[in-house]
Amino acid sequence: MKTMNVNKYQPYPPFPFPERTWPEKTITRAPIWCSVDLRDGNQALNIPMTVEEKIRLFELLVSIGFREIEVGFPSASEIEYRFVRKLIEENRIPDDVTIQILTQSREHLIRRSFESLKGAKKAIVHLYNSTSALQREVVFNMNKDQIKHIAVTGAELMQHLKEEIKMPGVRFEYSPESFTGTETEYALEVCHAVMAVLKPDANNKMILNLPATVEMSTPNIYADKIEWFSRHINNRENVIISIHTHNDRGCAVAAGELALMAGADRVEGTLFGNGERTGNMDLVTMALNLFSQGVEPGLDFSDINKIKEIYSQCTKMQVHERHPYAGDLVYTAFSGSHQDAINKGMKAQKGRKIWTVPYLPIDPADVGRTYESIIRINSQSGKGGVAFIMEQEFGFKLPKPMHAEFGRIIQNITDKTNNELTPSEIKAVFENEYLQKKTPYSLNQCSISMTDKGETQILASLVIHEETIEFQGQGNGPIDAFVKGISPVIKKDLTLKSYDEHALSQGSDSSAVAYISISSLNKTSFGVGVDPNISFASIKAVLSALNRL
Ligand code: KIV
Ligand code: ZN
Repeated sequence: MKTMNVNKYQPYPPFPFPERTWPEKTITRAPIWCSVDLRDGNQALNIPMTVEEKIRLFELLVSIGFREIEVGFPSASEIEYRFVRKLIEENRIPDDVTIQILTQSREHLIRRSFESLKGAKKAIVHLYNSTSALQREVVFNMNKDQIKHIAVTGAELMQHLKEEIKMPGVRFEYSPESFTGTETEYALEVCHAVMAVLKPDANNKMILNLPATVEMSTPNIYADKIEWFSRHINNRENVIISIHTHNDRGCAVAAGELALMAGADRVEGTLFGNGERTGNMDLVTMALNLFSQGVEPGLDFSDINKIKEIYSQCTKMQVHERHPYAGDLVYTAFSGSHQDAINKGMKAQKGRKIWTVPYLPIDPADVGRTYESIIRINSQSGKGGVAFIMEQEFGFKLPKPMHAEFGRIIQNITDKTNNELTPSEIKAVFENEYLQKKTPYSLNQCSISMTDKGETQILASLVIHEETIEFQGQGNGPIDAFVKGISPVIKKDLTLKSYDEHALSQGSDSSAVAYISISSLNKTSFGVGVDPNISFASIKAVLSALNRL
């Protein structure tokens, strides 16, 4: 093994905070959601969205239920500016939606940002500057006071422009960017300085957004910092604490959830976690995590496939097959034991109020996914899965002892091909194996009548090796009469072992299906027959079993 140079890295500094209370908390209501798809998400695309694509995504976000949407960075490019103008001039912002724009704390950018907002009924202007120790040193070459001064002068200009353009509907957000790389006491000091300028009150609360611009630590440390900040910030009741996590260590949602437990009020993120590098926090996952715990998320993901489609068309990003709640394969089980448990769980679920199906944290139907794909068959699958497909897709409720037999037949095929079998391929195997077997015995004619003594009488003709043979039999029902009549003809001593039947479809044109197992000497086999008449379905099932013996 080649050793990697671990000495190049150092652990994230500890943040001792024994007074923390968040580990005992649970999340009982949804946060204020803010989508940053059109800004942070867009900035991370190799081909940023066109104005038309941004409009389409904006409309999708509105329809999902986002009421705060960061729509862009209008001072950064012409497209961004034009998009904000189009939203405002074409009256595309619903009254209950607030757009948010981002600006660096630099005079000409703040001025241009305010220009982009002319005519907007309301908006959030989001000011940021990096406060991190590393960036103070290597990017800005400035000390703490100089960096704080950048934030304060930006806030002063924002306050001034808000009054100048007479836009009472403008609210403010400030982010000490790279909060997780900033000394927490210093981040608090900068936020206090910004608040001293913006003077939030009950009618004009401000948002303080604490970004994990780069995720650097385990989520518990982020939560500790959020709780610490929330307890130390002045005028807490007039400040909305917002979190904005990125996914560099793969824990953005976890960090976001712990931060909510730690007292955050608002969450910024993107659909499916699009965003710089490894992405922003995934809003779909966080919202549906809440939903799966019985907490109303206030966002509508009931047609996840449509959301995925529009998202992919606009961003040209794909959603991974295993993406939580949304991936193509996340409601699919290939493993036999999982399939068996799901099959049983789905049956037990009927009539229950609370969702408790093994291996399915939520009901796929709640996000518009169907049950068809829950169970898919490959060489890892077992009898339960095959039986589930036959019932779910085609209405054949195979009797329990038949599951193993048909499951083995399917497994032989998947073992050989090492390929997945689709439901229609499974049905074709079923038909070939049970319904269409015509040799050595094929039924030519059959009539059923009653004798004077009240017994059932069968008159039938069979083709056996191209020779037609007629026979008759009597018994206490059609199956008994048929078995008694055919036994001497085929010179087999037959014992009927089991019989099951059910209607195959509803309505007047419904067929019946019969499943029969028959043994002769030491061999037993199943047969299946389908016919509009249940007696003929049973006779066909006897022949199917005999042809398979
Ligand atoms: O990740 C980040 O820090 C940002 C800020 C601009 C809020 O996107
Ligand atoms: Zn970000």
